[in-house]
Amino acid sequence: MGEVTNVSEYEAIAKQKLPKMVFDYYASGAEDQWTLQENRNAFSRILFRPRILIDVSKIDMSTTVLGFKISMPIMIAPTAMQKMAHPEGEYATARAASAAGTIMTLSSWATSSVEEVASTGPGIRFFQLYVYKDRNVVAQLVRRAERAGFKAIALTVDTPRLGRREADIKNRFTLPPFLTLKNFEGLDLGKMDEANDSGLASYVAGQIDRTLSWKDVKWLQTITKLPILVKGVLTAEDTRIAVQSGAAGIIVSNHGARQLDYVPATISALEEVVKAAQGRVPVFLDGGVRRGTDVFKALALGASGIFIGRPVVFSLAAEGEAGVRKVLQMLRDEFELTMALSGCRSLKEITRDHIVADWDTPRTQQPRYNPRL
Ligand code: FNR
Repeated sequence: MGEVTNVSEYEAIAKQKLPKMVFDYYASGAEDQWTLQENRNAFSRILFRPRILIDVSKIDMSTTVLGFKISMPIMIAPTAMQKMAHPEGEYATARAASAAGTIMTLSSWATSSVEEVASTGPGIRFFQLYVYKDRNVVAQLVRRAERAGFKAIALTVDTPRLGRREADIKNRFTLPPFLTLKNFEGLDLGKMDEANDSGLASYVAGQIDRTLSWKDVKWLQTITKLPILVKGVLTAEDTRIAVQSGAAGIIVSNHGARQLDYVPATISALEEVVKAAQGRVPVFLDGGVRRGTDVFKALALGASGIFIGRPVVFSLAAEGEAGVRKVLQMLRDEFELTMALSGCRSLKEITRDHIVADWDTPRTQQPRYNPRL
């Protein structure tokens, strides 16, 4: 096996190393997986309009997210059950994020608890929340995350039921018996029963609150002072309601194409959300980000930063903490290079004019160069 030179290469390595049930759970999207492909394809329909002859000897990629200074606008999305990928699981991810000077979001369904992840050392971390039917469970968990020093809640709003991931159904996916959903262990909700279809889908059907609505976003603000990011917005309509409901930020996400199939790629939905947010709250994006050029395109369309999901679990499977570090470093290096080759020295120099998207109105045909003129 040669040297890994880009983020996408970790998927094939993970596929070789992991049990089929685990790899399929990480890799799959919902149903026809149209959105899964589209999350990648849509990036390839956005092209650059680079500016030249600008002194790019110094590039600053640092930024501030909810008041927290980070080294780059590349952060880690919540992905469940990371100890299936590597024995160090979420510990490794937390250390890699901290070493890179960026934010890790811990999943509700992590195989390490909020306290355990906090014990890995300093680092800016967000906690992703699934709202259980039993609201005492939710209130306790949010309090624990707050005490463990987590800085924001990413409230996932696209999962009243689990999307239909057919590989998980065929494989009868369930959490391996030596692992638990660590945050829920003491609450007797840490195990996932085997089911006739996907064990996770059954768990969600049993525990997750399908009645969740905008009033609960308000309710959440009564039980925590932490800022709330609404994760899973894809339309201008919901952006406006999220802002009115007190969200501190929005994550444009289709859950890595694992929920409703045939929603647009997140990069295609981003601009609509950015316009509707009217600069009142920051807008972030996740879904299909695999290159520094993707990061640049998202920022040019108005995102304040991006999150990566699958690259973390695949690189964890391949090389543990070193793998996640390498993923963050490769994306950082590629993004820096993209900025340099586009003539941008800081994030605020990245503008909409640095890209052209397929939905932009075509420029009128200009007359051809004529040497006799
Ligand atoms: C996820 N995602 C997710 N989201 C969430 O809010 N809570 C969770 O527990 C999980 N778990 C999870 C597991 C796995 C294996 C995947 C691939 C995804 C969605 C995740 O936060 C993010 O939205 C996507 O992963 C982003 O897309 P990419 O980067 O994977 O293409």
